[in-house]
Amino acid sequence: MENRCFFLNSGSEATELALRLARAYTGRKSVLAARMGYHGVTNAALDASPYKWERRPLPDTLHVIEVGGDINEITNKSPIGTFIIESALSVGGVVFPPSGWLMKTMDVIRCQGGVTICDEIQVRREFQESPICTDVTKD
Ligand SMILES: Cc1ncc(COP(=O)(O)O)c(C=O)c1O
Repeated sequence: MENRCFFLNSGSEATELALRLARAYTGRKSVLAARMGYHGVTNAALDASPYKWERRPLPDTLHVIEVGGDINEITNKSPIGTFIIESALSVGGVVFPPSGWLMKTMDVIRCQGGVTICDEIQVRREFQESPICTDVTKD
């Protein structure tokens, strides 16, 4: 796929566009996000933000993984289209994933036909410093 760059006005708009691209590419609506992950306040961004759904029923399309959790337990139940993740949780508390977890989780998602959106709107850590190859990055 060729590299493209879009200039937008807010983080929420970037999430909307990234989710739209990912859904068009994978043909799947399901989204996996970290528990307490936050990706914006517009429609699709909110539906991909577990932080905003704490103690409320999740949207049908949203699946949640603990930071450091086992991705195979989730993908065994249903195939994931889009994995959206911050390199360290920001709004949901400063939570750093264990070393290697992001890369391993992204590999499993990719092997099963999904893509990963790296949300770097607030934190720029592992994605910039490691050899992780992202599918869609939001700065
Ligand atoms: C990680 C992350 N993603 C998305 C957003 C949404 O950005 P905006 O408030 O510019 O819509 C924020 C805002 O704090 C954020 O921290």
